[in-house]
Amino acid sequence: MRMRNKKNLIPRMERCAAVQVKDPAALRGRWASLLPGCKDVRAEMGCGKGAFTAGVARRDPDALVVALEKVPNAMVVAMERVCAQQIPNVRFIDTDAANAAGIFAPGEVSVIYINFPDPWPRKKEAKHRLTAPSFLALYWDMLPVGGRVEYKTDQSWLFDWSLEQFAAMGYELTEVTRDLHANGPAGIMTDYEAKFHEQGVPICRCVARKTRPEHAPLPEPEKRRHAPEGPVPA
Ligand SMILES: C[S@@+](CC[C@H](N)C(=O)[O-])C[C@H]1O[C@@H](n2cnc3c(N)ncnc32)[C@H](O)[C@@H]1O
Repeated sequence: MRMRNKKNLIPRMERCAAVQVKDPAALRGRWASLLPGCKDVRAEMGCGKGAFTAGVARRDPDALVVALEKVPNAMVVAMERVCAQQIPNVRFIDTDAANAAGIFAPGEVSVIYINFPDPWPRKKEAKHRLTAPSFLALYWDMLPVGGRVEYKTDQSWLFDWSLEQFAAMGYELTEVTRDLHANGPAGIMTDYEAKFHEQGVPICRCVARKTRPEHAPLPEPEKRRHAPEGPVPA
């Protein structure tokens, strides 16, 4: 997603410093400590402007929602939204989702949200898709057995491809739909989703669950590209 540079980006981010984590590795394994009474930690990959982030956090106040976003121009809008609404259970990290293994300990995150990820339509770019095998292996390690990925997209070809990747990696697929809002708006909409829904574009959604400790082997050309670097803290 290309965005024009936001005016005064740095001071705007500084005004929201309370919700941004600049040294996320230091919280690896103890994210729940940020929220008194935290029942679970969730991660959102590519939160964009944060309508979904804020909505989930308001709906589930006992969950800590950690939103990763690699474009600060988008993330600042999400941060301002959360600050304006005084939502206490969201934190933002300005990083690529590929860095998640250095941020979350194994089994630390019970739900991972992936909403309307960049499609990377060319075959040679497929490894960048947030549902590419190496990302699915990364998420697998972050989740406990019973944890899940909740995924939405408007791109039906990408959805079909992602379903194949989830299944090949060993995730159990449930709640698979190619028209989420067929019977009226369902669940919390993201910023992109609200626009697509208004235009009558059908939304695809599925839930992919980790039901056993080990995932299937990665396909031959895929390496574990997203393992954390250096020693992993206990
Ligand atoms: C199409 S937008 C969707 C934003 C939001 N999820 C929504 O549904 O409104 C995709 C977002 O994911 C972010 N993104 C894409 N790849 C990412 C990655 N590898 N790590 C972190 N953020 C990423 C982009 O910067 C962009 O903000």
